[in-house]
Formats: sequence, structure tokens, C-alpha cells
Amino acid sequence: LTCERYPVRRLPFSTVSEEDLATFERIIPRRVITDPEELEASNVDWLRTMRGCSKVLLKPRTSEEVSHILRYCHERNLAVNTQGGNTGLVGGSVPVFDEIILSTALMNQVVSFQDISGILVCQAGCILEQLSQYVEERDFIMPLDLGAKGSCHIGGNLATNAGGLRFLRYGSLHGTVLGLEVVLADGTVLNCLTSLRKDNTGYDLKQLFIGSEGTLGVITAVSILCPPKPRAVNVAFLESPFYVLVETSGSRVEHDAEKLSSFLEHALASGLVTDGTLATDQGKIKMLWALRERITEALTRDGYVYKYDISLPVDRLYDLVTDVRARLGSQAKHVVGYGHLGDGNLHLNVTAEAFSPSLLGDLEPYVYEWTAGQRGSVSAEHGVGFKKQSVLGYSKPPEALRLMQQLKTLLDPKGILNPYKTLPTRA
Ligand code: FAD
Ligand code: MLT
Ligand code: ZN
Repeated sequence: LTCERYPVRRLPFSTVSEEDLATFERIIPRRVITDPEELEASNVDWLRTMRGCSKVLLKPRTSEEVSHILRYCHERNLAVNTQGGNTGLVGGSVPVFDEIILSTALMNQVVSFQDISGILVCQAGCILEQLSQYVEERDFIMPLDLGAKGSCHIGGNLATNAGGLRFLRYGSLHGTVLGLEVVLADGTVLNCLTSLRKDNTGYDLKQLFIGSEGTLGVITAVSILCPPKPRAVNVAFLESPFYVLVETSGSRVEHDAEKLSSFLEHALASGLVTDGTLATDQGKIKMLWALRERITEALTRDGYVYKYDISLPVDRLYDLVTDVRARLGSQAKHVVGYGHLGDGNLHLNVTAEAFSPSLLGDLEPYVYEWTAGQRGSVSAEHGVGFKKQSVLGYSKPPEALRLMQQLKTLLDPKGILNPYKTLPTRA
């Protein structure tokens, strides 16, 4: 295992010593992991394309413990990589070198739930699917859902500003998150964990941490607004020549069925849709959604996957797929376009038997230039992490990148939080 696998240089952070381990052991007894086998899973990302060589994994249970850990790391100049469910797709969740891994896995308690407003307050390490079950038992749903729900943490969702499968209906986390508790790089606990719908007391600081990918602070708790559980859910899976999955949700079964069937009649009569199937029962709905949710996993079976997560004007969404397909010819196994049509979010994925620098050369900067030409975004919902930092300039002006850098310096002057990630190396 080598630490020098990427074309970046390790910054002059301290190296974890025996004395550091003893201090961590005092802060979080028996939750300082140094066993290489246990560390292996936390050093490798979900796609298995990034590998760090951290020697220590810390598992705090409370924000006070996180605060102690960060205060100490800040003093000692030790770099820290916060990790949730490790399902991130841009290499942000694992260390680049030997950064300490700070896991939220044991910060998994629900703090409160208001069953009239639907406001959930919980720790950052709660698994999304478990939160879904918790609120569904109380007649609400989480405002977000994604294929990684079984592993990803709500803190990780916020840190990446995950979009997912309910974005079109319930909007962004920038709207549904009401409050946050964050521990800053020097250990300061920033308690903005309010449950108010309206709060204009100056700058909305929580927004800065949503999508900051562990570079500005460690999110330790969340207050989030959950919508009521819909009484009627319909899923339509339509064809010709694309597959489209449409989910409707509302409060009256007959009303929703009537609206959906008049839409389908119109779509069929106009020739837009030639075939499809409908589902109203839970089993079939789950089965249809699984077809969509498991595309990511299916593609990994094809070999190496070049992943692009792009925002484009909806009417140009698929043109990039056909252009890239023609450009690559037989070099690629598959050139696949899927995503979130209603959001204008294309996941362009190219598979090949193995990684090839020449195939990468044909994809980049072509894909990014194409996207910039449409004033699109080179990262719609997955974030920047380690993999996309050098291409931010395609979607953000230099002035914005400079401001991002200034904010980072303000909040994390020593740069110990998730170094080598998100910000371009030279902003
Ligand atoms: P991790 O992967 O552990 O971390 C991701 C980043 O957040 C890292 O930079 C990490 O340092 C930081 N971080 C994690 N926790 C915290 C915290 N508490 N405080 C500060 N920083 C933190 N994304 C979408 O947007 N939409 C999708 O539909 C979608 N579907 C997916 C489907 C699959 C099968 C997979 C594997 C991934 C998918 N993703 C999707 C990617 C998505 O970013 C993650 O699944 C999820 O949001 C990350 O959560 P996590 O807990 O796994 O975070
Ligand atoms: C999805 O929409 O399925 C996710 O964002 C994951 C992916 O892009 O592969
Ligand atoms: Zn997606």
C-alpha cells in the first residue's frame, strides 16, 4: 500500500503518534480503531477507485467528543477526513494520504420528532433508510431518497447536498434543512440547530455547510422538515425509445388516478409513449424503483466506470450522450445516459474493461467543455470531492473560486479538514 498514488503532494501535517492515539483513547475509550483489517473498508471508496492509507479511525458518539477531537487535531496540526456511510462517488469520503478518519457511524440517535409539523432532529450519523422508516411509522416521509439509502448517513447527505429521487417534488436540502449543529476545525461547536421555519437573523450560516463536503466543519446534528406521507402513490414506467419512471403522490387515490390516466391517454395518443406499466401497490412500486436505483451498481459490473454528473438544459440533456457515443466508437463498452430528467441532471457513464488513459483523454476535457458551452454544471449533485476539483472552473468564475478559498481560510486556517478536496489546488 502506497500513499503516493496521486499527482498531489502530501501537505506538511503532523503524523499520528503513539501519544496522539493515547489522547484519542482518553477522549473516546475503545472507539479508536487501528486494526488494519477494520481500517481497510474505510480507506477505500464505494467505487473502489480511491484508496487512502489512514492508520486510525475515530468513532465519536457526541458532538462534545467531536469537539475535543478537533480541538486536539487543530493544535497538533493533524488532518481529518470526516466519513459518513462512505457512499460518495467523487472520492471525498476517503483519505488521500494518512488523514485521520472521523466516522459518524455511532452518532445515530434521533433527538426529537414533532408529529404535527414533521420536524425531525437527529444526529448526523443516522442512516437515511432508518430515518425513513422512523418517520414513515409516524405518517411522514424524508424529503430525500437515494439508491444509497441503506448505507448513507444524513450528515453525509447534507455534506454532499445530495439531490436524489425526490428532488423534483420536495426540492433541495437548502430548503428542507431548518438547522444544523457543526463542529468547526478548532473544535468550536456552532449550534444553529433551530427548528424554525422562518429565521432572518442575519446570514443563513447553515447553508454554507450544506454541500461543503467536510471541508468547512463536521456536521454533528440536523433539523429537517419532513413532508406528510402521501395517501396515494402511483408509479408509471414508460418506454419509447427511452425508459421514464414517473412517480405521482397525493392525498386522494381517485383524484390522482384520474389525473395520471388522463396524462397517459394524452401521452399514448400523441405517440410520445408506446408502452409501459403502472403500479400502485408497494411491492411493484419497489420493484420498478429498484430498476432505476440499481443502475449505479449494475454499471460497476461492466468494468471500469467513468462517471459524469452534469446539469444541462433539459432539451439538450441527451445530446451529450449521443455525441460521446459517436466520439468514442468501439473504445467504450457502453455509453449510458440516465439521471433525473425533471431536474436537468444527466449521469453520463462510460464503461470499459479497464481504466485507459487514452479513453480518458477522449472524454476530458471534451465532456466539460461541452457542458460549459451550455452553461451547465460539471457537478450537479455528487459534489466535487477529490475527483472534480480541477474542473470547477468550467462552472464557476475565478471570483467565486477565490471567495470559496477565503471562506475556507477563515473557517479552517490550518486546512486540516478534508485537505486535497473540493477546492481547486490553485484557486
Ligand atoms: P460519505 O460518502 O461518507 O461522504 C461524502 C462527503 O461528505 C465526504 O467529503 C465526507 O468528508 C463528507 N461528510 C460526510 N459526513 C459528514 C459530516 N457529518 N460532516 C461533514 N462532512 C461530512 N447522490 C445524489 O446526490 N443523488 C443520488 O441519487 C445518489 N445516488 C447514489 C446511489 C448509489 C448506489 C451510491 C453509491 C451513491 C449515490 N449518491 C447519490 C452519492 C451521494 O453523494 C451519497 O450517496 C451520499 O449523499 C453520501 O452520504 P455518505 O454518508 O455516504 O457520505
Ligand atoms: C443516481 O441517480 O442513481 C445516482 O446519482 C448515482 C449515480 O449517478 O450513479
Ligand atoms: Zn443521481
